[in-house]
This record gives sequence, structure tokens and C-alpha cells, in this order.
Amino acid sequence: MSALEVNKILASIIIAILVVVIISHLGDILIDVDNDNLTETAYKIEIEENQEILGATLNNDINIEPISSLLLSASSAKGQKIYKKCGSCHNYEKNGMDKVGPSLWNIINRPKADIAGYNYSKALAEFGGVWNYEELAAFLYKPKDFMEGTKMNFAGLKKVQDRADLVLFLREQSDNPAELP
Ligand code: HEC
Repeated sequence: MSALEVNKILASIIIAILVVVIISHLGDILIDVDNDNLTETAYKIEIEENQEILGATLNNDINIEPISSLLLSASSAKGQKIYKKCGSCHNYEKNGMDKVGPSLWNIINRPKADIAGYNYSKALAEFGGVWNYEELAAFLYKPKDFMEGTKMNFAGLKKVQDRADLVLFLREQSDNPAELP
């Protein structure tokens, strides 16, 4: 065996040992991270995100003006015109077929996600409660903010007068319109 060959064999043995040592240390480092640091970091991020969500919700609450005081003087004729923005996806007639979105007949104080046979998103199906005047108006301000995960792709109605006019119009699409607030 030449000296060169002996060297080669020695070198491969040393490399093999080095690799084993490095891998076992790597393992230690990874397990360390798993046990302590990771759990701690995950917890921290969770808190920060919650605070962010809380902040966003608070901001929205401040921005969304209530419609109740405007309903008495609102115009359902104007509301019907504004409804054109909804009409591509929703019917409002009694016994109207569901389109991309569910029928809006009798929507005021109707339980959320109440149309049998309509395939609601999980977000809306599990939201709970009824569509009272203010919740409906807040939803229409910016649907995806009010209900994270809704599949209603609509940017929203930013003017409080538009929301009041539209909601007044929708209220009349019922055999028994709900009392005004
Ligand atoms: C691009 C289509 C689209 C437009 C435009 C649209 N919607 Fe929707 N809407 C939907 C879909 C889809 C859903 C079902 C959402 C879900 O399951 O998350 C929905 C759900 C709703 C619901 C909940 C109904 C229930 O049974 O709980 C209301 C109320 C509503 N829309 C009102 C409106 C109004 C009012 C407008 C007009 C300002 C409008 N939508 C515009 C697609 C649309």
C-alpha cells in the first residue's frame, strides 16, 4: 500500500468521524431549539397577532357609523338603485332563486346562513345571530373585515347614507317588514 493510499484512507476515516460528530451536535442544537426557544417564540407571536386583530377591530368600530338614526329619513328608492351593486349575485324577490349569493328576501332579523340548500362558507355558517339593522350595515361596510373568511366578494359601501338607503329598501322586501329601530 503506498503512502498516498494510506493517507486517503486516514483522511476518509477522519472525515467520517467529523461528519458523525457534527450530525450528533446538530441534533442537540435542533432538539434544544424545539424544547425551549420554539415554544417561547410561538407564544410571543400569538400574543402580538391578537393585539393586532384587536386593534383592527377597534379601528373599524370607530369608523363604521351606525345607520339606525338615519333609517327614518332614508330613501328606499335610492336604496333600490344602490341594490344594482348586489343584483348580479343576489335576488331579493320572494321565492327568488339563489345566485352566486343566497336570496335576500326577508333579510332583516333573518338568522345568518339560514337559506336551506345554499352552500355557505364556514365563516358565515358558524357566525351565529341574526342580521339586525346594524350588523347588516356593518357587514356591508366591508364584508371581509366584518366576517373574516366570507366568500362574498364585495368591496363594500363606504357612505353611511348609502348603507341606510339600501338597508331600508331591503327591509321592505318582506311580507312583514321588521320594525324600525
Ligand atoms: C360578487 C357577488 C356578490 C355581491 C356583489 C354581493 N354579494 Fe352578498 N353574498 C355573496 C356570497 C357568495 C354570499 C355568501 C357568503 C358566505 O357564505 O360567506 C353572500 C352573502 C350575503 C349575505 C348573508 C346572507 C345570509 O343568508 O346569511 C347578505 C346579507 C348579503 N350577502 C348582502 C349583500 C348586499 C346587500 C349586497 C350589495 C351591497 C351584496 N351582498 C353584494 C355574493 C355577493
